[in-house]
Amino acid sequence: MKLSYFTNTILFGLASAFYHPEPKGHEFRRPEAGDVRSPCPGLNVLANHGWLPRSGKEIDYDAIDRAAGGAYHFAPGTLDMAVDAVFLANLSSTETYTKTFNLDDLGSPEAHGTVEFDGSLSRSDFLVTGDALSFDRKIWGPVAQHLGLARHSAKFRKEKYITVEVAAKARAARQEIAKEANPQFNASEFQNLGSIGTTALYLTTLWDDEADAVPKTWLKAFFEEERLAYREGFKRPEKVKTGATLKKMNEAVGAVPVS
Ligand code: HEM
Ligand SMILES: *[C@@H]1O[C@H](CO)[C@@H](O)[C@H](O)[C@H]1NC(C)=O
Ligand SMILES: *[C@@H]1O[C@H](CO)[C@@H](O)[C@H](O)[C@H]1NC(C)=O
Repeated sequence: MKLSYFTNTILFGLASAFYHPEPKGHEFRRPEAGDVRSPCPGLNVLANHGWLPRSGKEIDYDAIDRAAGGAYHFAPGTLDMAVDAVFLANLSSTETYTKTFNLDDLGSPEAHGTVEFDGSLSRSDFLVTGDALSFDRKIWGPVAQHLGLARHSAKFRKEKYITVEVAAKARAARQEIAKEANPQFNASEFQNLGSIGTTALYLTTLWDDEADAVPKTWLKAFFEEERLAYREGFKRPEKVKTGATLKKMNEAVGAVPVS
């Protein structure tokens, strides 16, 4: 036993001394004092890896395109609509508020009901805690349980990956929990589409084309650490992702029977 423990330690040490899976300049670093983050894990991950400014500040269309392209292989312009919504609602607190925004602008009280909505997978509802921006373990816990994140065996494919069906059901279950906790839960069509849309967005972003599913380890790192799972094997996918890719995933998530 002891021998294998030391052997493992040595092998692991050697491996980590030579193996740097994170692209140069895009190492994972937690935000430091003064840096700002958002209710969006997708953008926070990009900032935590320096694909977006690590400060989380003064972000424009071009920065989103370069970051989402460099890290996730989204085609330029794919996420324009999400950025448009930020400027349309006049949420930016920067001096150049028609061109740039700070990540925390997406979680301000004004953002609630415009770009930030109830029933998020990993954030509380604004009217319940006043904080719909920060990762909330109490909210994420039941979602992670529905996704079966803790059940993980390298032996069984079913236990390693998340399928569209499992993700769609976990999303729907979170909506039911949110409705119970928040008497003012706005069960509008807009909010339902937003909820389906963000599930489709993470599935598309973390989709492993070889496995044709999302590895649980990648999803766990994404939500729980806001880290891109380079160490767990994530690579920028070969195939470019476009609006059409997202639309297809949206339809697939929406088509899963959930009640
Ligand atoms: C780059 C690719 C992106 C990915 C993978 C991504 C992913 C996600 C996910 C999974 C959520 C849901 C979080 C939860 O339910 O707890 C979310 C929420 C959000 N995202 Fe993104 N996102 C991306 C880009 C963007 C862009 C470009 C914007 C706008 C500039 C944006 C704004 C938001 C906002 C405001 C929310 C909060 C919505 C809510 O209340 O749940 N995201 N995003
Ligand atoms: C948008 O916000 C800025 C301050 O951030 C403010 O000066 C401006 O008047 C607002 N514009 C509209 C149309 O509300
Ligand atoms: C619910 O959301 C819809 C669509 O965003 C909005 O028009 C409506 O005012 C909201 N209702 C409440 C009570 O917030």
